[in-house]
Amino acid sequence: GRPVNILGIETSCDETSASVVQDGRTVLSNIIASQADIHKRFGGVVPEVASRRHVENITLTIEEALQEAGKTLDDIQAIAVTYGPGLVGALLVGVAAAKAISYARGIPLIGVHHIAGHIYANRLVTEMEFPLIALVVSGGHTELVWMKEHGHYEILGETRDDAAGEAYDKVARALQLPYPGGPHIDRLAHEGTPSIPLPRAWLEPNSYDFSFSGLKSAVLNTLHNASQRGESISPQDLAASFQDSVTEVLVEKTIRAVKEYRARQVLLAGGVAANRGLRERLSKRCGEEGLPLVIPPLSLCTDNAAMIAAAGYISYQKRRFARLDLNGVPGLPL
Ligand code: KG4
Ligand code: ZN
Repeated sequence: GRPVNILGIETSCDETSASVVQDGRTVLSNIIASQADIHKRFGGVVPEVASRRHVENITLTIEEALQEAGKTLDDIQAIAVTYGPGLVGALLVGVAAAKAISYARGIPLIGVHHIAGHIYANRLVTEMEFPLIALVVSGGHTELVWMKEHGHYEILGETRDDAAGEAYDKVARALQLPYPGGPHIDRLAHEGTPSIPLPRAWLEPNSYDFSFSGLKSAVLNTLHNASQRGESISPQDLAASFQDSVTEVLVEKTIRAVKEYRARQVLLAGGVAANRGLRERLSKRCGEEGLPLVIPPLSLCTDNAAMIAAAGYISYQKRRFARLDLNGVPGLPL
């Protein structure tokens, strides 16, 4: 049949993004208006500021996405929009824009779960092989997901407190590094050795859940105790030790899930997929297990609308459309 062009819209956090993706696989455009510079001043994302910026940027971002793809709304078969989880005021901007276009032009609407989007970023790189295990790690999420087929998700484990990226950002702040601190810790970690003993949150023996707040506290205590004693601590070694703890738990739980669920492929997604320590460790372990590992390019790992359009294509094929009363759902389950 003729190609299916889906317009994707993503506004769940601090990126306003619109994209046109053909047949769920080919990115024709992927426009991202980042607000990182504004939120940097506050050391984190300020929800009211994010919503306001989305309102200011959404129309132009959608127009740019269509223009760069060489398409008009006449060429679009469906609109896929993130409707949760995320900041409610931020989500609503994208959802309202998608509904308005859907209603005005009679184009079907598809609601997409943000995590499904992160996972489907991988399909923009290579075809998915089922069953698979996906590790989604970002500033807002840490989830281990099992998929037996397209559109079917089972959360095996998730964080009980901080997301992995959030832990990176908090440790970075304690080391007086700028926000977002993840990349800075990553860089420091490569200049140090993991010589400082820090805990690993394995939790219950069978659990696939994660916890990073105890590790974060241990890092803060290490810094505090050293300064009390008038000793200095190598930020490089502390970063390396923190990164070693985070990546060991993430990778070993992923590998255990891969074995238990006999996965044929491992997918990595989310902003923390940029982490060199995590990529190297996961590549090494997947290599040892003879498992194909897919890591999308960074531009598709961080929040973007192409991944939302890619995930929306699965719903399109199943004719699973949303109604015009679609709402933003901050705590949407997968
Ligand atoms: O996916 P993302 O762009 O936004 C969310 O949906 O949260 O992820 C951003 C997070 C931030 O916490 C940032 O510090 C972290 O990803 N991050 C990293 C690295 N690059 C980004 N964390 C560790 N190492 C990195 N190289
Ligand atoms: Zn995200």
